[in-house]
Amino acid sequence: MRKQLLKPVVFMLCLLPLMVLGWQLLAGLLGANPIDEVADNTGEWALRFLLITLMATPLKRLFGWGWTIRVRRMLGLFAFFYAGLHLLTYLWLDQFFDWGEIWLDILDRPFITVGMLAFVLLLPLAITSNTFMMRRLGRGWKRLHRLAYIVPALGVLHFWWLVKADVLEPLVYGAVLAVLLGLRIRAGFVPGKVRQEGCAS
Ligand code: HEM
Repeated sequence: MRKQLLKPVVFMLCLLPLMVLGWQLLAGLLGANPIDEVADNTGEWALRFLLITLMATPLKRLFGWGWTIRVRRMLGLFAFFYAGLHLLTYLWLDQFFDWGEIWLDILDRPFITVGMLAFVLLLPLAITSNTFMMRRLGRGWKRLHRLAYIVPALGVLHFWWLVKADVLEPLVYGAVLAVLLGLRIRAGFVPGKVRQEGCAS
């Protein structure tokens, strides 16, 4: 694919889940509880994008696909975008911005506590994902961006605690994350393999 086309094409692909969800919502295809469906869908896409973002570096290392690094920041920002929509669905359509109720919910339900923590930790990653902040933070930027592994781990735990019995789906996401983390640790032990390649690696 031509270099100039890469980013616009990936951008449109990243918007596709939202377009499909919007169409399903308008066409009344989301069943009896569309709010739950919107919350579930945006939550799952947030988790998927977090994991897809983490795949960029191993894909480059294993197959030499340098283009994955060029779209990595965008993928990470889409993870934040879907997590933001997910949170907004909860705050607005589920809790009607009743801040007292929301606070109690965060304290009472561990899966909400963990989801909130994941979002709070995702915030500094999104804010510092630009080149200006990367330069400004220097070595601290790399340390901060290790959160890119903690956030999806919290996302998996959040999902796990939500589903309680049927843990297959969170287990699959957890397994993917474990493989990515394993590859990262392995690369860390090979001299010369860890490089400053920019955003969340
Ligand atoms: C990075 C942050 C987050 C990720 C990756 C994430 C991911 C997920 C996932 C994967 C699900 C399950 C979807 C399914 O059942 O198919 C879910 C459900 C849910 N999440 Fe999150 N979440 C995050 C943050 C939050 C936050 C901040 C809140 C609210 C404070 C929240 C509230 C919920 C609720 C209420 C559900 C259940 C929706 C329903 O079935 O009614 N999540 N989330």
